[in-house]
Amino acid sequence: MALLTIATIGGENKTVSTEAEITALLATYGIDYERWNPAHQVADDAPPEEILRAYAREIDELKQRGGYVTADVIDVDPNTTGLEAMLAKFSREHWHDEDEVRFIIAGHGLFHIHTAAGPVLAIEVEAGDLIRVPRGTLHWFNLCADRRIRTIRLFQDTSGWSPHYTDSRVDERFLPVCFSLSHLAQQRSTTS
Ligand SMILES: [Fe+2]
Repeated sequence: MALLTIATIGGENKTVSTEAEITALLATYGIDYERWNPAHQVADDAPPEEILRAYAREIDELKQRGGYVTADVIDVDPNTTGLEAMLAKFSREHWHDEDEVRFIIAGHGLFHIHTAAGPVLAIEVEAGDLIRVPRGTLHWFNLCADRRIRTIRLFQDTSGWSPHYTDSRVDERFLPVCFSLSHLAQQRSTTS
């Protein structure tokens, strides 16, 4: 389950963690959030075609809703070649001419959404979470401490996927820290 923090620079932070609250709150900013259960159980390290088959019903439904034409599976882990360069591309505030649609199969990630209304939303995602960031939305992305994420991606047109940078440096004012993971790590260290 995702964890959502609404952060205002110099203001109060508000954190919500239930599916209903996250869905409702993100919807007010035009961000879709859903939890998916697989059509059948599939290992999170299964081959990409098996993953896509397991989620075929949800993917088809989303394709119809959003005009997406293609789906793939992407894997990132600490051994991924060129990981730092790849992460640097996405950790600065940017937007795309294409929706950013991600369903998380394994690992964790942290999306920051800079809303037009002002607040920055920090959304920690994990397995089972679907997030759709509409085209043109200002955002940036970091991995969490496990530096691992496997996701299904959907595209309207892969040519629209290149990031446009704002160079606002607003991303530097928000810590790229996943609180759900650090709480887990703390729990482990106090119980072991
Ligand atoms: Fe992006």
